Amino acid sequence: MTIDCMQKIYIAGHRGMVGSAIVRELSNKGYNNLVYRTHQELDLANQVAVENFFAQVKPDQVYLAAAKVGGIYANNTYPAEFIYENLMVQNNVIHQAFLSGVKKLLFLGSSCIYPKLAPQPMSEDALLMGKLEPTNEPYAIAKIAGIKMCESYNRQYGKSHGVDYRSVMPTNLFGPGDNYHPENSHVIPALIRRFHEAKVTNAPEVVIWGTGSQRREFLYVDDMAKASIFVMELNKIQYDEVTSPLQSYLNVGFGGADITITELAATIAKVVNYQGKISFDSTKPDGPSQKWMNSSKLNQLGWKAQQDLQSGLNKTYIDFCKKLDTVSE
Ligand SMILES: NC(=O)c1ccc[n+]([C@@H]2O[C@H](COP(=O)([O-])OP(=O)(O)OC[C@H]3O[C@@H](n4cnc5c(N)ncnc54)[C@H](OP(=O)(O)O)[C@@H]3O)[C@@H](O)[C@H]2O)c1
Repeated sequence: MTIDCMQKIYIAGHRGMVGSAIVRELSNKGYNNLVYRTHQELDLANQVAVENFFAQVKPDQVYLAAAKVGGIYANNTYPAEFIYENLMVQNNVIHQAFLSGVKKLLFLGSSCIYPKLAPQPMSEDALLMGKLEPTNEPYAIAKIAGIKMCESYNRQYGKSHGVDYRSVMPTNLFGPGDNYHPENSHVIPALIRRFHEAKVTNAPEVVIWGTGSQRREFLYVDDMAKASIFVMELNKIQYDEVTSPLQSYLNVGFGGADITITELAATIAKVVNYQGKISFDSTKPDGPSQKWMNSSKLNQLGWKAQQDLQSGLNKTYIDFCKKLDTVSE
């Protein structure tokens, strides 16, 4: 496949975990006309600022990886911020991209869009077939709106304006650049921090929220970046073969088996070399009992995850330690 390396590509959220991995991967592939702005330089929730940015910069393609993201505690504590900021960011970026003539855009959704009791592994046709998990419903509703916005623009402006806006639904992601905040982070960075701190302070026990029996799937962020670019680069005939106008998104999962939080915790403790006791607080919420994506459509198109959990965790722990060094310098 030939790559037009001069395509001007805007990566929204380039300093985030996924956005920075997309930048790394695009650069590795030879794309050298990448455009980005920090949150401070451009607040994507500000309609006028986004309008001015697109009118001036006029990118050819957009990767929309900017969003308000967090784990179960953050979603449950700040539901208004999760729905407001995500809707604003995606509405502004998708609409202004369209007005400035962007033909190709990739929206990053999430596996949270699927109903709490969706059959496992969850396939694309489970969308809107049941009630969502209440703890992250506002975030999920925003993500569903993002998918439907892309679909609606394709349906209305696909033929007339050549609009081709695609969406990918990642499973739980982890890797360098993750958010290790003690409360607002996802399970892997949160456990890395907890086990590391317990090791340093010689704490005899680490107590983890929930029963530990929930099953989850995890994908290394560089694999996610590769999948994003793979989907963006697919020709329209291939993309249309596995999607439809009202189901235009693709799942991106690890593809192998999911694991329990108990198994995950044991693996992270090993990576961090924490040798104390691990116990569970079952009075705290578990979230859905299982979340496992069916990624067969993407696999059928030729994409497969490459990084296994253990080596991905090793790289993530190195990243966490580097961040600690920077803070303590
Ligand atoms: N992480 C996961 O496990 C996971 C799983 C499924 C889907 N996803 C999706 O993947 C995408 C990227 O997630 P991520 O993990 O890379 O998140 P992240 O590390 O938190 O990065 C998000 C980025 O978006 C920026 N941003 C947020 N609001 C903004 C605004 N109003 N204006 C400008 N920039 C703004 C953030 O900047 P600041 O930090 O400066 O605010 C940050 O750089 C999101 O759409 C997320 O929903 C992530």
